[in-house]
Amino acid sequence: MRSRSPRAGFEALAYAGLRDEHRLIRDHLARLEAAADGDELSDLVGLVHDLACRLDLHRRREDEVMLPALALHLGEDSGPVRLVRQGHVDEVRLLGELRAATGRAALRRAVAGLSTLLRAHMDIEEEALFPMVEIVLDASEREQLARRMVELGEEAACRTGR
Ligand SMILES: [Fe+2]
Ligand SMILES: [Fe+2]
Repeated sequence: MRSRSPRAGFEALAYAGLRDEHRLIRDHLARLEAAADGDELSDLVGLVHDLACRLDLHRRREDEVMLPALALHLGEDSGPVRLVRQGHVDEVRLLGELRAATGRAALRRAVAGLSTLLRAHMDIEEEALFPMVEIVLDASEREQLARRMVELGEEAACRTGR
């Protein structure tokens, strides 16, 4: 089991932790897509609820901890910070559309729209943003980042649909 102690350091707690959460979100999207294609649409309700919970916590780690730390070095108006913040705005909007969707066709469209956005968004974060955190933040800033991300809590409460 992955350690969550502060001594595990930035790599395990924050950088790798965000990647772990991305992996769980990708798995969750695959289950959501399978449910949207299946006959039992009631399965979707629980999956959407759990995904929203998981995304809310993950987004807070990035919006409230990672992006402000990066913005101190790059500026709030810098391209990477703005790009990720816009991705989160789009994510919240599409999540709202998914929650409001009724009927098979609308649900499938909403699932497809959110999945496409999230996969592209996570690719950008993994390929460009997370490596940038390592480059621009010094060791003590990264430790502080890790501590604050852990303080936001675990996503255990979002696992009922796993
Ligand atoms: Fe994000
Ligand atoms: Fe992310």
